[in-house]
Amino acid sequence: MALSIGVIGAGTMGRGIAETALVSGFSVILLDTSPEIAARGVAGLKKSLERGVERGRITRESMDDMLGRLTPGTDLSLLKDCSVVLEAVYEDPDVKSSVLTTVSQIAGSETLIGTNTSSLSISRLARKVASPERFVGIHFFNPVPVMKLVEIIPGENTSSSTVSRARELALAMGKTPVVVKECPGFVVNRLLCPLMNEAAYLFMEGVASAEDIDTAMKLGANHPIGPLALADLVGIDVLLAIMEVLHSEMGDDKYKPCPLLKEMVAKGHLGRKTGQGFYSYGP
Ligand code: NAI
Repeated sequence: MALSIGVIGAGTMGRGIAETALVSGFSVILLDTSPEIAARGVAGLKKSLERGVERGRITRESMDDMLGRLTPGTDLSLLKDCSVVLEAVYEDPDVKSSVLTTVSQIAGSETLIGTNTSSLSISRLARKVASPERFVGIHFFNPVPVMKLVEIIPGENTSSSTVSRARELALAMGKTPVVVKECPGFVVNRLLCPLMNEAAYLFMEGVASAEDIDTAMKLGANHPIGPLALADLVGIDVLLAIMEVLHSEMGDDKYKPCPLLKEMVAKGHLGRKTGQGFYSYGP
């Protein structure tokens, strides 16, 4: 029988992690707070696999096989026999803490428990985990089936064998792991979010148009996408939240969120997901 991975949270990241695990041959238990939300996660995952069939990346038979290895649900006790549990619930310390406490009591003490948090302290979350030496940050990127990187972030109690297991898991899921010391934003967000924030300052100051700022970075720095288009993709609210964490945790004004981001969030201009950010995306 295929090794079983439990994924908690069937939102954007959870369903992407579940899909990637299925494609890599694992069995997956995908949990959320209601059967309807879990079913929505499964529907999104299925749609993504179907696109893979249409584009000839996978066969219909292998898609059916993958869906046969997927068990959606709401009951955390389903995770008791999983060798790995990955948590991708809301980025809220209370929600994550309560999920992690319960899961770490249900799952065997050898079960690897990973959190996909973007900004919370792994060591602080670890205080809620029974046997915290098997708990580690495993940070995937959106969209998970496409993005090759996984940041692995040990907390102060994470054992070296847990770090090795997390690396092996990332490799088995077709990803490239990098191990990162615990710090706000880890590597990618610490570098990328200040870049997008600075681009927002340039735009706010009228230094150049959004198109010209993005063209400048695409052609002048060989970036595949400009920083403002990327901010729209990530979500202006998500970018603002990460800048606020960087600013408060690092205690350095170089991370001060651009006031324009706050204004955009207040207006509901959150980027692609609302149809309006630095660019307009139509209905
Ligand atoms: P989301 O809002 O799309 O999904 C979160 C899911 O968790 C929802 O379906 C929600 O119903 C579920 N949930 C909430 N409480 C729960 C509970 N107690 N038990 C089970 N399920 C519960 O959020 P998203 O974007 O998938 O983010 C999840 C995590 O991944 C967050 O920690 C976020 O910071 C992180 N992350 C997000 C990235 C992104 O680009 N969206 C990128 C990398 C990490």
